Amino acid sequence: MTVLAAGDLILLIDKVGRRYRVRLSPGEQFSMHAGAVAHDDLIGRPEGVVVATQRGSRLLAVRPTFAEQVTGRRRQAQPIYPKDLGAILVGADVFPGARVLEAGTGTGALTIALVRAVGPSGVVVSYELREEFLELARRAVVDTLGAVPPNLALKQGDVYAGVEERDMDRVLLDLSEPWQAVSTVRAALRAGGIVFAHCPNVSQVQRFFDCLREVRGFGLLEAYEVLQRGWTVRGRSMRPSHRMVAHTGFLCFARRLAEDDVFEPEGEGFR
Ligand SMILES: C[S@@+](CC[C@H](N)C(=O)[O-])C[C@H]1O[C@@H](n2cnc3c(N)ncnc32)[C@H](O)[C@@H]1O
Repeated sequence: MTVLAAGDLILLIDKVGRRYRVRLSPGEQFSMHAGAVAHDDLIGRPEGVVVATQRGSRLLAVRPTFAEQVTGRRRQAQPIYPKDLGAILVGADVFPGARVLEAGTGTGALTIALVRAVGPSGVVVSYELREEFLELARRAVVDTLGAVPPNLALKQGDVYAGVEERDMDRVLLDLSEPWQAVSTVRAALRAGGIVFAHCPNVSQVQRFFDCLREVRGFGLLEAYEVLQRGWTVRGRSMRPSHRMVAHTGFLCFARRLAEDDVFEPEGEGFR
């Protein structure tokens, strides 16, 4: 749907790039320091329209992208940053039709990315310890996808204590002590499957990898981080942005082996 409709969540972006989240509702008005715009002047117009406040300030009206929804949402847990979300989906090879286990759900940012990646033929089961976080994540899913899709199960539970799922293609962890989930992962992940953990600190990476090696049955351990640097490309100004997100987390991956073995090639390999 390219035309803006009542009930749509949109962003109004001003000339300095400030973004205002607005839920369109007939008869309502959006007011800011630079004037006001009636929602009725937006409803029925095409997405991407530029409207003016009654004081002449121009505002671009677009629906937020998934990344803008993740960073724009008020939240209690720390979501995975959009720059990492894409890298995680490719690094963990989350494919259409995959059966995926996730913990913890947090804000639901990664959960929604996973649902989009596995498509209607896949399955996502997401565990969250805290009931109130699970409820907020459920609302974020509804906000983004319109409803909780039938192939997404949001479960309250402690993933460190074990899960009932088996033969999962992928397991993705974003919690403070991923090494405590290794037994759970070992039982839930099929041979050849991929486990991923998001670790803000390198001490977590070390402990997680040590644990994978100790329990055996995992190989091809690798960790990397994603640095994204924006550029200004305007007129004669062609330069890197003054600011960037310096650090988010290390992305850690390993594959489940068919036997209780260890397989770690010595070189850095070619990917
Ligand atoms: C950093 S947040 C996850 C953020 C999430 N990846 C996102 O993109 O919004 C970590 C979450 O893990 C949950 N958690 C911590 N320990 C857990 C456990 N043992 N089992 C399930 N969830 C757990 C926390 O309550 C918190 O919501």
